Amino acid sequence: MSHTLLVLNGPNLNMLGKREPTVYGHETLADVQAMCERVGTELGFTVECHQTNHEGVMIDWIHQARGRVSGIVINPGAWTHTSVAIHDALIAAEIPVLEVHISNVHKREAFRHHSYVSLVAVGVIAGFGTHGYALAIQHFAKLLK
Ligand code: DQA
Repeated sequence: MSHTLLVLNGPNLNMLGKREPTVYGHETLADVQAMCERVGTELGFTVECHQTNHEGVMIDWIHQARGRVSGIVINPGAWTHTSVAIHDALIAAEIPVLEVHISNVHKREAFRHHSYVSLVAVGVIAGFGTHGYALAIQHFAKLLK
């Protein structure tokens, strides 16, 4: 049976391509999700992609993944730096997590240097642009097979 991976994107990532292109690039969220599905399928995964601007919706998706999904790739956007609730939900899900940031958050404002999600992530990818999502999926191929 093939493993399912969830690719979750948090607030404002629906604006990719329009939002601060010098920081986040010109690709749209649809481009990124299509790339994740392609890379995941090539590696034998079923990939489900979701984006929300609502924290409770994100938490519900994480809970519903428990026991069903083999890995979570998450770009929590600004919730990275603020959300104890998403941190707790990821622990409750008991699923390996890879945290992705398009930008190099460590090169940016000090408030982006702390992540509640990193505390529960297997690893963090930051500053590789949207290629970071592909790197995370490739890493799950190593972890899960
Ligand atoms: C981001 C970095 C966060 O600090 C920011 O709030 C985002 C995107 C990134 O992908 O680089 O929304 O997670």
